[in-house]
Amino acid sequence: MELTTYQVKVNLNGTFEEFPLELAEDETSHLLVKLQDMLRNWPKLAKFDSVQVFKKGEPEMVYELPQAFLSSPMSISIMGTGYVGLVTGVGTCHIGRRVICVDIDEKKVDKICKRIPPIYEKGLKEMLVSLPEKYFSCTTNLREAVMNTDCTFIAVGTPPKENGEQDLKFVESACAELGKILKEKPGHMVVVKSTVSPGTTQNKIKAMIAEHAGHTNFKIAMVPEFLREGLAIEDFLNPYRIVIGVEDQETFEAIKFIYEDFDTPFFKTTLTGAEMIKYASNSLLATKISFANEIGNLCKSLDIDVYEVMDGVGLDERFNRKFLNAGRGFGGSCLPKDVKALVSLGKTLNQPTELLKAVWAVNENQPLKMIELAEKHLGDLKNKTVAVMGLAFKPGTDDIRESPATIIIKELLEKGAKVIGYDQFAQENMEKIYPNITYAKSPTEAIKDADVVLGVTQWPELRDEKLYKGKLFIDGMKFIDKRTTDDYEGICW
Ligand code: UDX
Repeated sequence: MELTTYQVKVNLNGTFEEFPLELAEDETSHLLVKLQDMLRNWPKLAKFDSVQVFKKGEPEMVYELPQAFLSSPMSISIMGTGYVGLVTGVGTCHIGRRVICVDIDEKKVDKICKRIPPIYEKGLKEMLVSLPEKYFSCTTNLREAVMNTDCTFIAVGTPPKENGEQDLKFVESACAELGKILKEKPGHMVVVKSTVSPGTTQNKIKAMIAEHAGHTNFKIAMVPEFLREGLAIEDFLNPYRIVIGVEDQETFEAIKFIYEDFDTPFFKTTLTGAEMIKYASNSLLATKISFANEIGNLCKSLDIDVYEVMDGVGLDERFNRKFLNAGRGFGGSCLPKDVKALVSLGKTLNQPTELLKAVWAVNENQPLKMIELAEKHLGDLKNKTVAVMGLAFKPGTDDIRESPATIIIKELLEKGAKVIGYDQFAQENMEKIYPNITYAKSPTEAIKDADVVLGVTQWPELRDEKLYKGKLFIDGMKFIDKRTTDDYEGICW
């Protein structure tokens, strides 16, 4: 294997020690991890003032590192291998850190060790496969992972309870386990990645870890995740910003260092501020969509195309065009959950959240508009065959959590319609909730006997006008260009 040699120049109070650092082809992106390991294991060198790194034979310095580099978290353990944990783990290793992912689910861990992602996410498998074993591993052994890393990310799930509040049971057990281990490892850094409501990191997570550790000698940060499903790898590598909620400047700098190659704003705030930025961001996205939908519903009555309207609105930079696509409403694991969580927080704080309640109300009703339009053409849907095209909450994912398709199917079944579902990727997940509807193997099969076709989630393969020829088509998301024929109805155009 070809080796790349770097020359390391260590400044020890004005005198310089030099040594070569050799990296195998698959380790070059992990130079800093290897360098930190060497410096930590070499007590004399560890007292350096600064370290300069050059590629052998080349004059330009690759890195100049301050003493703080020695304690920077180059090795990271991640609790939870769901969407956030796994993408963060794989991405963080890809950008040159050592990562140990941890999960209690042995099957998942086994898959990840074999470089098979347990979830579908574009580009994830390719990235996972490319990570060198020395720098990326996955285990059920939290103790070993924590003891061998500088920093632990908590990325376990926070699913919603019936009343909209978040269920913290996974976070709580993660804190208890981590706290017990930190009893023997003072000075560790803990980064909360899970979406938690404002105040949780400060009042619950920190307190729980301290209780189990028997001390408060650990650093804590809240770094919310803004990844979109289906584009998570792309978003990880090109973040709009990295929000870092901390209690001190040192922790802020240490976390910034993990992502130092990113050319993005690093936004420093408090722990509670970071938590609220996540909720406010998702709620604002949801607000934009519900706003577009409400305007879209007015547009429909006036025979105006809301997409054209939003194209005009979006030209003003103060709004921008993104997230103004009207349609059958938003779904997914984040937007609905976060809007509901803020409404629930408002109740607890005795502060009205009328706007967010309205955002939610618009969204709950929006998928049903598609059924109303079908009824406008067909009358009673009892015993009518309805094809539901696209079951995932959006294209590019197999996730059906809070998907508009689930609401539509439920309503159709209540009305006595025969439902045929189609989605190349999300069908298996939908079968778990609705095992008794018919699932088609291809778009053509789904449409063949349908009295009406509902375009719910516009996967590229479904955006083919020819597919729907001769069928009544209710378009929930601009599958095809608006037609003025009697067999086409756009939801908001
Ligand atoms: C969202 C946020 O975008 C992301 O920053 C956060 O980390 C997690 O939540 P995600 O749930 O993956 O990401 O989906 P997103 O792409 O935001 O779409 C959410 C829903 O809104 C989908 O159902 C989508 O179809 C719908 N949507 C989106 C619209 O109806 N109109 C739009 O203009 C945009």
